[in-house]
Amino acid sequence: MKFKALTAIAALLAAPMVMAGGADDDTLVINGDLEIVTKAAAPEHAENLSEVISGWHFRDDDTQAMEMDDFDNPGMIFVDQARDVWATAEGSEGKSCADCHGAPEEMAGVKPVYPKYNEAAGEVRTLQMQVNDCRTTRMGAEAWKYDSGDAINMEALLASVSRGMPVNVAIDGPAADTWAQGKEIYYTRYGQLELSCANCHEQNYGNYIRADHLSQGQINGFPAYRLKNAKLNGIHDRFKGCVRDTRAETFSPGSAEFIALELYVASRGNGLSVEGPSVRN
Ligand code: HEC
Ligand code: HEC
Repeated sequence: MKFKALTAIAALLAAPMVMAGGADDDTLVINGDLEIVTKAAAPEHAENLSEVISGWHFRDDDTQAMEMDDFDNPGMIFVDQARDVWATAEGSEGKSCADCHGAPEEMAGVKPVYPKYNEAAGEVRTLQMQVNDCRTTRMGAEAWKYDSGDAINMEALLASVSRGMPVNVAIDGPAADTWAQGKEIYYTRYGQLELSCANCHEQNYGNYIRADHLSQGQINGFPAYRLKNAKLNGIHDRFKGCVRDTRAETFSPGSAEFIALELYVASRGNGLSVEGPSVRN
C-alpha cells in the first residue's frame, strides 16, 4: 500500500530528486501599503510543518505581480459586482445586506474566523452557509448554489475587507469533532493513485508535479482568481479538482466532508493573512 503510493507520487513528480526551488523570498504588499503575512510559524496543531506559507510564494513573478495591485487583480472586478449585490434588496422582506449590516467594511474581521461554529444552529458554518442563512431566513430570498458566481463573489467581497488580518479559526470546543473529521480526510489516500492531500501539499511542496509548482495548498488566498479558467474559484471547487486528480470519486461543494476539510485546512493557515481574492495560475 505504502509502496504503491510512493511510486505514484514519484511518477507524478517531474524531478523527484531535485528540491526544485521551494518558496521564494519575495514580499507581498498590495497597493503599495497593505502588508500581507505570507509566511508564519506553523500553528502547533499543524504538527508536520514548521512554517506555513501562502500559495503566492509558489507562483511565477507575473502572476505574483497581478495580486500586488487591485487594478491588475482581475478578482477585484467580481468584488465590485458583489458590492452592487450587497446594496440590492431581494426576497420577500425587501431587504439588502446593507440594510442590516451597513457597509461591507463593517464585516472586517469576519472572514478570518470562518468556518465557525454557530451556537443556535448547532453546526460549523462556512461563510457561504452563513450568507445563505441570511438570504433564506432574514431576506426571504433563495439560497445561492454552493460555489456559484454570486456566492463566490460575495465571499470575495467579505475576504477583501479583511485582507491583511490573520486567519484565526477556532478548532476546539464544539468545532473539535468537525476539525478532527477534516484532519482525517486530509490524511486519507484517495483514488487509483492512492494519494492524500498531505502526500502532495505537506511532503512535496516546493517540488514540481508535471508543470505545477506545488504549494502547501493553503486557503488564505481564497476565493482565488485563476488564469486557467479566468474566474474566481471557491475553496470546495479547488478541493474537488485536487481529489479528482487522484482519479477518485469526489465529494460535492457544500458537503459535510468539504465543510470539515475547509475548517481543517483553514486552521493549518492560522497566522497567515487573509489574502483573497488572490491570483493563481
Ligand atoms: C434582516 C437583516 C439581515 C439581512 C438582510 C442580512 N443579514 Fe447577515 N446577519 C444578520 C444577523 C442578525 C446576523 C447574526 C446572526 C447569527 O449570528 O446567527 C447576521 C450575520 C451575518 C454574517 C456573519 C457575521 C459574523 O460575525 O459571524 C455574515 C457574513 C452575514 N450576515 C452576511 C450577510 C450578507 C452577505 C447578506 C446579504 C446577502 C446579509 N447578511 C443579509 C442579519 C441580516
Ligand atoms: C497529486 C497531487 C495533489 C493532491 C493529492 C492534492 N493536490 Fe491540491 N494542488 C495540487 C496542485 C498541483 C495544485 C496547484 C499548485 C499549488 O498551489 O500547489 C494544487 C492546489 C491546491 C490548492 C490551491 C492553493 C492556492 O494557494 O491557490 C488547495 C487549497 C489545495 N490544492 C488543496 C488540496 C487538498 C485539501 C487536497 C486533498 C483533498 C489536495 N489539494 C490534494 C496537487 C495536489
